[in-house]
Amino acid sequence: MTKKLIAPSILSADFARLGVEVEQVLASGADIVHFDVMDNHYVPNLSVGPLVCSALRAYGIEAPIDVHLMVKPVDRIIPDFAAAGATYISFHPEASDHVDRTLQLIKDEGCRPGLVFNPATPLDHLHHVMDKVNMILLMSVNPGFSGQQFISGTLDKLTQARQLIDDSGLDIRLEIDGGVNLENIRSIAEAGADTFVAGSAIFSAGDRSDPNRYDSIIRAMRTEIDHAA
Ligand code: DX5
Ligand code: ZN
Repeated sequence: MTKKLIAPSILSADFARLGVEVEQVLASGADIVHFDVMDNHYVPNLSVGPLVCSALRAYGIEAPIDVHLMVKPVDRIIPDFAAAGATYISFHPEASDHVDRTLQLIKDEGCRPGLVFNPATPLDHLHHVMDKVNMILLMSVNPGFSGQQFISGTLDKLTQARQLIDDSGLDIRLEIDGGVNLENIRSIAEAGADTFVAGSAIFSAGDRSDPNRYDSIIRAMRTEIDHAA
């Protein structure tokens, strides 16, 4: 069975202490680092770029880095993220004029390509490129901000995406991003997700002075996932 991965979104971390924050969530049992890239153009917010990704690598972070590009255009920045140590690079099909070319570019740069689907974006974009993706990321909020509420219709979409992946027989992760918390993560797992992004639910947990502050939230999330039917 595919290992279920917990992917804290650094967007909710304390950026002044980013290396320590990432180290602590990984030490607490998180599996991969979700790295949200926003350009104040494709989405109405601005976050971080390749410099910060390479700074995390230089700091000693070895876990996979899951780069979620919310930028337009997409292609120009891909080699920079590959050089900065990205593992996965996912983008929104609306942000690329040539989706197949962008997927190929990510692969050629030595990273694992993913496609991201906004709440209103149909899964049809997958039809001709399914064999070229390693990750399908379903947004359960509109992209741009952490701390938004989970859009419940995404559960049906997850079930559809899970079916597509299983029918294909391909090795593709199914990731959910937006409004994931301890209350809904079990139903999200039951709908078929295997990779769980959580920003505010993780980084708001515990006491800032406690180096193990993220242990209990990540353990509790893992228990919920493990109990999914
Ligand atoms: C939103 C980002 C998310 C966000 C998730 O555009 O892609 O990764 O940080 O944050 P929460 O878990 O707080 O919704
Ligand atoms: Zn994200």
